[in-house]
Amino acid sequence: MQLPKAELHLHIEGTLEPELAFVLAARNGVELPYATTEELRTAYLFDDLQTFLDLYYALMAVLRTEQDFEELADAYLTRAAAQGVRHAEIFFDPQAHTARGVPIGTVVEGLGRALDRSEEEHGISTQLIMCFLRDRSAASALETLDAAKPYLHRISAVGLDSAEVGHPPAKFREVYEAAEALGLRKVAHAGEEGPPEYIREALDVLGVERIDHGLRCMEDPELVKRLVAERVPLTLCPLSNVRLRAVDVLEDHPLRAMLDAGLVCTVNSDDPAYFGGYVGDTFHAVHEALGLEREQLRTLARNSFEAAFLDHDEERRSR
Ligand code: ADE
Ligand code: ZN
Repeated sequence: MQLPKAELHLHIEGTLEPELAFVLAARNGVELPYATTEELRTAYLFDDLQTFLDLYYALMAVLRTEQDFEELADAYLTRAAAQGVRHAEIFFDPQAHTARGVPIGTVVEGLGRALDRSEEEHGISTQLIMCFLRDRSAASALETLDAAKPYLHRISAVGLDSAEVGHPPAKFREVYEAAEALGLRKVAHAGEEGPPEYIREALDVLGVERIDHGLRCMEDPELVKRLVAERVPLTLCPLSNVRLRAVDVLEDHPLRAMLDAGLVCTVNSDDPAYFGGYVGDTFHAVHEALGLEREQLRTLARNSFEAAFLDHDEERRSR
């Protein structure tokens, strides 16, 4: 039986499976530079975050209409339900769509159609987290927050993703302040490829409540102490770390050491269509590769509900 769990680090665009990409490409008259789904899959060999992002953004060309976003989210929720997910806090990247002429309203309303049916159809409660692309300007992030204002009833939090190194959290201080003033909660990717200092900055300058990845905190014992003392949740993505070469093999992943250190770790799938597994597969993989026992897997699942943006009543209902 799959453990009930919350998924807190999931990019909806990263759930675009090759089969759906081809269906949407045909429907929207978009030409893909691959003849078959198998050929596309052979492109899923990445050297680092950037080589992945290049393909991830390119393939988004097939996502054009509300229906496309609805089908994308529905496909994810169907798979997630089968893997024990009861609550999902889902990232989306509005700038990756608005830059191609797809309005933010198309994205949010399309995703929203699937999310509105999710509890009933899949038994999964959902929230949306709007991410700013950190390799674009702070001004572009502010414009995005402004464009999102008519849809804030559908958005719980803001996040920060895309190419990390060279784009420290402090670049986005102003937009995070504005988001907080609008009542949005705050998370950020930090310490995936970037240094431990970016994790500190995300906490101290942006005031985030969770760190997405946070892997590189392990290089800084003082930072680990602080994360433990403040119970800052980390949304780790072990399969992503292997595919993007942050670690060589899953057996080398520091998850066990992180749990032993007392960090509030959660395990998530990041971009499951690209990285070889959804969140239940990830639990299974860390169990096998790191020899995590049932009790540690339970801790990871419990942490996921503790770290979720649920109130306590909702948290009890979803477990
Ligand atoms: N966008 C999608 N997946 C990402 C990741 N793992 N890191 C940063 N940005 C992303
Ligand atoms: Zn991510």
